[in-house]
Amino acid sequence: MTPAAWSKPRELRICPSILSADFSRLGEAIAVVQRAGADFLHVDVMDAQFVPNLTFGPIVVEACRKLTSLPLDVHLMVVSPMRFLEGFARAGADHLIVHLEALPDAAAASAAARAIRDRGLRAGIAIKPGTPIERLLPILPDLDQALVMTVEPGAGGQAFLPGSEGRIARVRAAIDAQDLDCLLEVDGGIGPATIAAAARAGADTFVAGNSIFRATDPDRRGRPPDPAAALRALREALQGSGRAAKGA
Ligand code: DX5
Ligand code: ZN
Repeated sequence: MTPAAWSKPRELRICPSILSADFSRLGEAIAVVQRAGADFLHVDVMDAQFVPNLTFGPIVVEACRKLTSLPLDVHLMVVSPMRFLEGFARAGADHLIVHLEALPDAAAASAAARAIRDRGLRAGIAIKPGTPIERLLPILPDLDQALVMTVEPGAGGQAFLPGSEGRIARVRAAIDAQDLDCLLEVDGGIGPATIAAAARAGADTFVAGNSIFRATDPDRRGRPPDPAAALRALREALQGSGRAAKGA
């Protein structure tokens, strides 16, 4: 893939993941990142079956809906996701992302995307690091968002997996070759040290949990994390990638 393939200007979006926020002060955490120019708010739903961890359901999405006007980017790490589309749509989700691995085949993934769009929401399919990226490519024309996991789903605070750039680049090439209107989102281990590489590989939408809500800056000497400064640091790192984030 030549750099020229990425020469078209593309809007870059940063999506704080509330999984790493302090849930005892969720409203404050969301207000801070909204003021700091976050583009979407990423909400991780885990069912203790698709992944070992258990988080929350539509009630928390409904609470977030009351707290922010940001688009709610809801990532469903659940088995049989079709059961939940209606509940999360009613709760106020704007984007629903389901996992390819939670569906029997490509036809089911396309059907899930249609069912999400039929509810007036943006449809996404996520793919785990161990799933061949070729399985995602035929579905791209049916999607508004493709989510390439850059860690094993299930927990925040993990390291960006080496080898992810090649997978991102394959999806970028397929989106560009067909001139699709599909965001390329990455999720897991995104921070100031990794975001530029993900952008150069072709990602345009960056989920970040720990690097926004739990960033530890040596200059802050034990003071609590500053999500607004962390968001600025991510934008600066994106500028270093030769691509600019919106509002930077
Ligand atoms: C992991 C979740 C992520 C998580 C990312 O399974 O899908 O959205 O919040 O967290 P960080 O950015 O800390 O890797
Ligand atoms: Zn996620």
